[in-house]
Amino acid sequence: MSLSHSPHSLNKNLFISTYGCQMNVYDSDRMADLMAPHGYVLVDSPDQADMVIINTCHIREKASEKLFSELGRIREIKEDRQQQGKATLIAVTGCVAQAEGDEIKRRAPCVDIVLGPQAYHRLPELVASVERKTGHQRKTAEMDIRFPVVSKFDFLPETERRQGVSAFLTVQEGCDKFCTFCVVPYTRGSEYSRSVEDIRKEAKHLVALGAKELVLLGQNVNAYHGVNASGREVGLGVLIQELASLDGVKRIRYMTSHPRDMDDELYHAHAHVDKLMPFLHLPVQSGSNKILEAMNRKHTREDYLRVIERLLEGRPDLVFSSDFIVGFPGETERDFEDTLDLVRRVGFVQTYSFKYSPRPGTPGALMDQVPEDLKQERLFELQSMLKHQQEQHFKTYVGQTMDVLVESVGREPGTLVGRTPYAQVTHLLGGPDCIGQEYKVLIERALSNSLSGRVVEENKRAA
Ligand code: 5AD
Ligand code: SF4
Repeated sequence: MSLSHSPHSLNKNLFISTYGCQMNVYDSDRMADLMAPHGYVLVDSPDQADMVIINTCHIREKASEKLFSELGRIREIKEDRQQQGKATLIAVTGCVAQAEGDEIKRRAPCVDIVLGPQAYHRLPELVASVERKTGHQRKTAEMDIRFPVVSKFDFLPETERRQGVSAFLTVQEGCDKFCTFCVVPYTRGSEYSRSVEDIRKEAKHLVALGAKELVLLGQNVNAYHGVNASGREVGLGVLIQELASLDGVKRIRYMTSHPRDMDDELYHAHAHVDKLMPFLHLPVQSGSNKILEAMNRKHTREDYLRVIERLLEGRPDLVFSSDFIVGFPGETERDFEDTLDLVRRVGFVQTYSFKYSPRPGTPGALMDQVPEDLKQERLFELQSMLKHQQEQHFKTYVGQTMDVLVESVGREPGTLVGRTPYAQVTHLLGGPDCIGQEYKVLIERALSNSLSGRVVEENKRAA
């Protein structure tokens, strides 16, 4: 690896455009970390960028159209800069790069580097290689879309990254579940868990940089099974206990989990680890057993309801969020009713719902499709119910006093934005010195997607 260039004396501008989930946000941050020792500084616009990274997501539709239209705009910038004698390096990373690397090389010759999500640690090396090439040699993009044996996590530099109050920490990647609608097992590869020591080290570093909340990330995070210091494999519940014992860690959350991977250790953590927040994103996708089977989810609606029940036994105030897909192939009115029924039973506080979109290469794409207008109707009905549920839930917070961890300043001067333990965004008044502190806040109003309130006292648990 040629990672040890001496730092450049002249700064170069790096613009990163990130699509998709929190894991992509984490990856983009790490790519910025990797390029920082080579003189690259993050900027907010591609106009004067020496390097542009488009970090893509393939999970739902139109990913490649979005990519090619953004590449069209970046190409114009590259050509303008070329006329001024300046070079612009373009890299496409993430899941679309993984799935459509050859197509990108063919359709967008302006792209210099194509990098799959498992290979971004090679970015500095590939940048150096592109910079060495001249003329026609430069016309072929450098590409790495393998699933390497050596983990990219082994190459993470310990830089002074910009760190907010709430920090993402990837503990697991990939998925072996093969739900029939999903591209993740193909684009992110099979399940891989980092070691407890590795994660502990990164967590301590994040805390030293000011993080108070750790959000443990993974495509299938509760399938986590990393080795601990004595070489024994442990699950997510044990990892959470370990991280909760670190000084300075105030809150822990994790996402995204699968109902089948809830185990005794994790139930135990929810019941006994105070720092594990009482909010869980637990996608169910559908409430119909027939559709769950066609989706290859490997759980029934009864299994899901049992998981919820067991979690609530240990932590009665736990609230749930979920993902839903409507109009999966074969979904009848009756199946859709089962989904509405499950929603009524659980009462979700936050949700993401989508029309099924066939992803090429997945089994669902080959099944008989539900007509588009029916999908649209069902989505509308489901979303109305979910919205109503969320509003009702938010109203129950008014008049309660809750611990709010302040994460940032608000848009208006003199305002702050924080979160309750139940993950609701909460607006309050105060100055920037309050960032990172936890306050007891009396919730006065429920807005459509957030709460507002006033500080009644500084929480004694605050740092
Ligand atoms: N069509 C619609 N929604 C999808 N999701 C994943 N794949 C598809 C698809 N092909 C949704 C699922 C998943 C979330 C991240 O995206 O609900 O949980
Ligand atoms: Fe995709 Fe999640 Fe299913 Fe894995 S468990 S295949 S990431 S939906």
